[in-house]
Amino acid sequence: MEKLKVGVVGVSRGNAYLRAFSLGERSEVTAICDLDQSRLERVARDLQLADSQCYTEYDDFINEDIDIVVISTPIPFHAEQTVKAIQAGKHVFSEVTAADTLEGCMKIYETVKSSDRKYMLAENYIYLDYIQRWKKYIDDGRIGRIHYAEAEYVHDIRHLLVDDKTGESFWRTYRPPIHYCSHCLGPILFLTGDDYIVKATGWGNKNTILPEFWPSTIDMQVALFETKQGRIIKILRSQVTPREPHIVTYLVYGTKGLLETGRTPGYDTIGKRYFEGSDRYAVDMNCNGTELDAPKEVRFGGHGTSDYYTAKTFLDSIEYDTEPPINVDRAMEITIPGLIAHEAAVKGHVWLDVPHF
Ligand SMILES: NC(=O)c1ccc[n+]([C@@H]2O[C@H](COP(=O)([O-])OP(=O)(O)OC[C@H]3O[C@@H](n4cnc5c(N)ncnc54)[C@H](O)[C@@H]3O)[C@@H](O)[C@H]2O)c1
Repeated sequence: MEKLKVGVVGVSRGNAYLRAFSLGERSEVTAICDLDQSRLERVARDLQLADSQCYTEYDDFINEDIDIVVISTPIPFHAEQTVKAIQAGKHVFSEVTAADTLEGCMKIYETVKSSDRKYMLAENYIYLDYIQRWKKYIDDGRIGRIHYAEAEYVHDIRHLLVDDKTGESFWRTYRPPIHYCSHCLGPILFLTGDDYIVKATGWGNKNTILPEFWPSTIDMQVALFETKQGRIIKILRSQVTPREPHIVTYLVYGTKGLLETGRTPGYDTIGKRYFEGSDRYAVDMNCNGTELDAPKEVRFGGHGTSDYYTAKTFLDSIEYDTEPPINVDRAMEITIPGLIAHEAAVKGHVWLDVPHF
């Protein structure tokens, strides 16, 4: 197979996927795009790209001879950039979340559905090693049917919201915490399987930690979701509450047992599992995000081996012409509930229907 040509737009977080798509025989990065000329030059030097392969104009970049566009720009650009890339005949691998408005989600959905191009949302937490192992336990029936799940993602990123010296606000300033829900919902809906959210409510619309109110500075948001198959899901999110290091946890209860990550922060946590009938009490379980026997070159990006496996999955779907697991339907199912939960919080924690395209 000829190497797939990959173009990456947004070369900050995009660096992880620059590495992932540069590994192996199936793909190579042949173009990059960023508004920040100095970043562009630094990455170009590392990858030994010519000036002609570096773009500051997205419209020029997508007309380059590339097969895949990796979108790693701030979320408010995702909808427009995804639509343009698909319309230019490229496959799209998009950073999370899919978009920051319902209209944006709808545009992505319709554009992808009316094309033959592949789209995958790069929800890398689904590819954390232990989440993949949990899925096997669940599919083997070890915890029975999941009836409840929760996740918590508390990450103090005050320095990424407003520059405390200049007062300049960055793009994340406008992102309510619960909008960024896919790291929580992605793994949970992956574990529950063929299910999606139909109703949402949200709590949290006040700021007491930071003086100025922006959607991002809401102290904490909690969302409750009801799924089509009657499951309950709870998500806890904050971007400002003091906590170091940050924490990402999951807990799933089934009719015959449970799986949970520990509360030791980081990716080295010891979790617990309890399988009724075979375990007397809950037993320790490795919840490291890194596949233990993975070669060194696929451990990068700060998320264990998950960035590598997320990119690999997309390349597989192109090589074998299969639907990417986090296709545009799933992308919407793990993006839209967060938008609705925030709306519910603002309206005074009402319950709202979650649109399902
Ligand atoms: N999956 C994960 O674990 C993870 C982690 C961090 C960030 N992200 C996602 O990655 C994306 C980027 O986040 P980040 O932390 O790199 O943000 P960032 O603000 O640090 O960097 C964004 C980069 O995009 C460039 N850029 C901004 N607007 C652009 C445009 N219109 N065209 C071209 N380039 C543009 C900026 O110059 C910058 O280099 C977001 O969608 C974010 O949600 C995901």
